Amino acid sequence: MRNTQRLDKLLSNHGYGTRKEIKQLIKRGIVKVDGEIVKDSGMHVDPMASTIEIDGEKLNYRKYVYIMLNKPQGVVSATYDNKYKTVVDLLPEEYKPFEPFPAGRLDIDTEGFLLMTNDGQLAHELLSPKKHVPKKYYALVEGMVTEDDKEKFREGIVLDDGYKTLPAQLEIIRAGAHSEVELVINEGKFHQVKRMFIAVGKKVKYLRRIEFGGLRLDESLKPGECRELTDDEVRILKER
Ligand code: URA
Repeated sequence: MRNTQRLDKLLSNHGYGTRKEIKQLIKRGIVKVDGEIVKDSGMHVDPMASTIEIDGEKLNYRKYVYIMLNKPQGVVSATYDNKYKTVVDLLPEEYKPFEPFPAGRLDIDTEGFLLMTNDGQLAHELLSPKKHVPKKYYALVEGMVTEDDKEKFREGIVLDDGYKTLPAQLEIIRAGAHSEVELVINEGKFHQVKRMFIAVGKKVKYLRRIEFGGLRLDESLKPGECRELTDDEVRILKER
């Protein structure tokens, strides 16, 4: 199926400036379609079928973006907030025309892997309670986490509202007055990890999501940094 779009709109959506700025690029003769210098910024192109170049750089055409963000503390998982900085504010300008939104939520004080995308279908599926997409967290917990807690988490924990969680896999890295753990949950109830620990009399002091849907947070990303998923990573999410 042919999918033609106005060239100026397409380039603008891929971060090459406003339509007026695109017109200037075209005037300078640095935009080519299939090797031919473009004269008309309103020309229609099929970005799947044609090669588009801007100053010798090939357009990386995509309809959807999939971004792994290492969410820092102090920002909210929303597209707009009248008080706090949002995860969208953290993204480089080039992604803004795609209108990515967070696929799910991390609390304001939680760090780690947040998927940002404009693929509504995929986001919907990953967040569906029926899908049981696994999420792995690293947590620093006040109190001694025990083998008994591990067993309780494996059986499912009854939260403060009476909901019993699905079985969760708790791994104790270090147990003491403060404990370090890793926890895999297969659902995403509000404040779930914190509430699970409260149910066993402990308090989460620090929380970081280190895996989402089988993908690991890229360790080279500092809090606040992001990168696009590779095609293989997108495939892994879609095949869930
Ligand atoms: N569980 C929580 O309690 N908070 C988060 O941000 C994510 C999972």
